[in-house]
Amino acid sequence: MKLLEDKIKECGFVATSDILDVSQFLNAQVDVELMQQIGKDFAEYYKDYDFDIFVTVESSGIAPSVFASLYANKPLIVIKKDQTEKDIKIFAQQACYSYTKKNAYYLTTRTKLIENKKAILIDDFLAQGSVVKNVELLLKSVNATHVATGICISKNYQPGYQKLIEEGHDLYCQAQIKSLDPETNTVEFES
Ligand code: G4P
Repeated sequence: MKLLEDKIKECGFVATSDILDVSQFLNAQVDVELMQQIGKDFAEYYKDYDFDIFVTVESSGIAPSVFASLYANKPLIVIKKDQTEKDIKIFAQQACYSYTKKNAYYLTTRTKLIENKKAILIDDFLAQGSVVKNVELLLKSVNATHVATGICISKNYQPGYQKLIEEGHDLYCQAQIKSLDPETNTVEFES
């Protein structure tokens, strides 16, 4: 998606060879018009898909997902990150570990919101793929189907992208990064 790539080039900051700082438009200051276009692009991409709901994981996935939900006219379920185990009669949970942030948590949602549903996951970044794999397990645990995954920014050189492609996962990434160079603040995209 050219608009997103242009924004990354203009406002992204290469913090390290693994971390792209997007605080100017995605996860601190939010460029709402860009989020609207991102959501519209997801809605267009998935228009012929058979699905019931979008799911995302708090917090940075929410802004783009809201607009995908609006334009596709499908409900959006926000999966929370919880530190504790909750009542299994009401909640579905899946343990998850973030390699980027080095913290553990439970992906948590009310079972009745997702059970037996066909879901498309939307998230801001794809790095290690742990969120995607654990959302898949969460959905499976309540007999829901993980239909596809839409990602705003994929760092293709990190393990998540390759792993999901090899598994035959239905993956759509709007901006695909080939490398990050912190010395020159350069972002190289896949061609
Ligand atoms: P994975 O899902 O691909 O396995 O990634 P991992 O668990 O390692 O890390 C996911 C978290 O790290 C997400 O934030 C994601 O937004 C963030 N992240 C990954 N790569 C980058 C990056 O290059 N730049 C920035 N700014 N963030 C990155 P989160 O824990 O879900 O928190 P939130 O920011 O959504 O609240």
